[in-house]
Amino acid sequence: MTDQIVRWHVLPDGQALAGEVSREILDAAHAAIRSRGQFHIVLAGGETPRSVYAQLAAQSAVWSKWRIYFGDERCLPANDPGRNDTMAWEAWLARVTMAPENVLAIPAELGAEQGALRYGATLRQLGDFDLVLLGLGEDGHTASLFPRRALGDDVGAPDTLAVHDAPKPPAERVSLSAARLARTRQVFFLVTGANKRAAVMAWQGGEALPASRIRPLGGVDVFLDAAAMP
Ligand code: 6PG
Repeated sequence: MTDQIVRWHVLPDGQALAGEVSREILDAAHAAIRSRGQFHIVLAGGETPRSVYAQLAAQSAVWSKWRIYFGDERCLPANDPGRNDTMAWEAWLARVTMAPENVLAIPAELGAEQGALRYGATLRQLGDFDLVLLGLGEDGHTASLFPRRALGDDVGAPDTLAVHDAPKPPAERVSLSAARLARTRQVFFLVTGANKRAAVMAWQGGEALPASRIRPLGGVDVFLDAAAMP
């Protein structure tokens, strides 16, 4: 397997990171729409992306050409406040003219197995993504790919994984596999806070983390604030 190409971008603080990342996302969207007519973006879950989504909500873009997917989802009822898609709707998608049919949520309310099967069928109709947003957990996890668990990073891995034992609650989740997350033109990791410093240091030290197994041909861009820098 090829080594992961990583470009590190350090911003002074979370606000500067949100401004920079939102600008980079809009640039990627403009380029994709100009050359292919649509922009296919995979959203990250957790709390870090909230400020980026809030920045996007304040921008204007040709939202009708955007197609929104999710890198993972927690097996909670639809619209549950703990879901990753609920946060994205509240922080951004409901604040712009984003047509609901262009937001492809993971049906994780069906449970991990059914949700993974259904979303896998959705993704099979698709080619490569244009941009994948990902977070980083304190243990080096990303999406719902956790250390010492299946990552789906081998050739022929399925597009989606049913997760039943996530150490970060809830235990039941649906995740895109490492292989499917890497089928994209660009990957942006968003990392803020001193609590991520150890994971960043392990990553930079060459430790095999789930985050380091995301290996698109074009490499990954990691945007982190000064607090997360070792
Ligand atoms: C989730 C996310 C998860 C998240 C990291 C970082 O469902 O929790 O997919 O991978 O991105 O745990 O979370 P924070 O951004 O909240 O630190």
